[in-house]
Amino acid sequence: MNASLPLLDVKDLMVRFRAAGAGIPFTRPRYINAVNGVSLTVAPGETLGIVGESGCGKSTLGRAILNLVEFESGAVRFEGGEVSARDKAAIARLRGETAMIFQDPYGSLNPRIPIGEAIAEVLRVHRKVGADAVPARVAELLRLVGLTPDLAGRRPHQLSGGQCQRVGIARALAVEPRLIIADECVAALDVSIQAQILNLLMELQRRMNLALIFISHDLGVVRHLCRRVAVMYLGRIVELGPTEQVFSAPRHPYTRALLAAVPDIDPDRLLAPPQLGGEPPSPQDLPSGCPFHPRCPHAQTACARGNAPTLRATIPGDLRAGEVACHFDLPPDTQQGEDP
Ligand SMILES: Nc1ncnc2c1ncn2[C@@H]1O[C@H](COP(=O)(O)OP(=O)(O)O)[C@@H](O)[C@H]1O
Ligand SMILES: [Mg+2]
Repeated sequence: MNASLPLLDVKDLMVRFRAAGAGIPFTRPRYINAVNGVSLTVAPGETLGIVGESGCGKSTLGRAILNLVEFESGAVRFEGGEVSARDKAAIARLRGETAMIFQDPYGSLNPRIPIGEAIAEVLRVHRKVGADAVPARVAELLRLVGLTPDLAGRRPHQLSGGQCQRVGIARALAVEPRLIIADECVAALDVSIQAQILNLLMELQRRMNLALIFISHDLGVVRHLCRRVAVMYLGRIVELGPTEQVFSAPRHPYTRALLAAVPDIDPDRLLAPPQLGGEPPSPQDLPSGCPFHPRCPHAQTACARGNAPTLRATIPGDLRAGEVACHFDLPPDTQQGEDP
């Protein structure tokens, strides 16, 4: 594979759900635009954070990338090959090289199946090792995630939440993936356990040169973990760039609002979800123009008109410096605002 080729290349991805209560005769069906034209790339071994308020489409984006939810339009290319729901071979290849780690460590495991068997199942489905070698590989994977192999016979309810999430990581690693999407994978755990799981994930990510898409509403964790970050608002990426750049000099008013809500970002501290003023966003009733304009302190009349602004390089011609979807170049010193 060409070294400069991204591992994952997502173009203009669009996911719509039919809104609840739709289907009333003679009414137009209503849709939720959960993901509304997202493009991004991930290089081999890279960490990308996806942040934004609850409901902005983070989980749907992650699931659509792995073809766990159908997308309406757009394209997902993995290792250079296009993945579409109709192409069974491409899906199988994707399944064999990617894995997802979910928020609820108990919910993602079958309560009746011993955890060693749950890991063995993944090894068998993906034919990773011969039948004889399965028990040894299960033991190896348990050790890799910091569990003792003698836990293999336990069922999920006999383990703690942190231990279950380690099993979730072991199942993901059993695939020998090149890309893992972790969706709020520590949000359900106690704070002290969160740090252990995050450290484990980071260590494995580095050691195995895994690409990691880390979905979280927790800005502190993303800053700690990810080299690049995408900020989502109402199904779109409004800012994308190197984490340090985005966090120290945010360009989009929404990113600024997110960060201003947590003024003292200490990478080692876990932060509460930010509070923003204005109307809560509804992906069912998208505003005209820029989707953030009803809540934006810098909005001008032009922001309510036409199409949503698309991502553009913050330094013209240099995409590595970051991209922002805003019509204006806001001066950097407006970041935290002067208001009391
Ligand atoms: N299966 C579904 N059917 C209908 N609407 C959904 C479904 N999944 C998610 N949504 C809606 O799509 C939007 C994005 O949801 P989600 O991707 O879960 O956001 P996030 O992970 O950022 O909290 C929300 O408005 C949510 O209610
Ligand atoms: Mg989610």
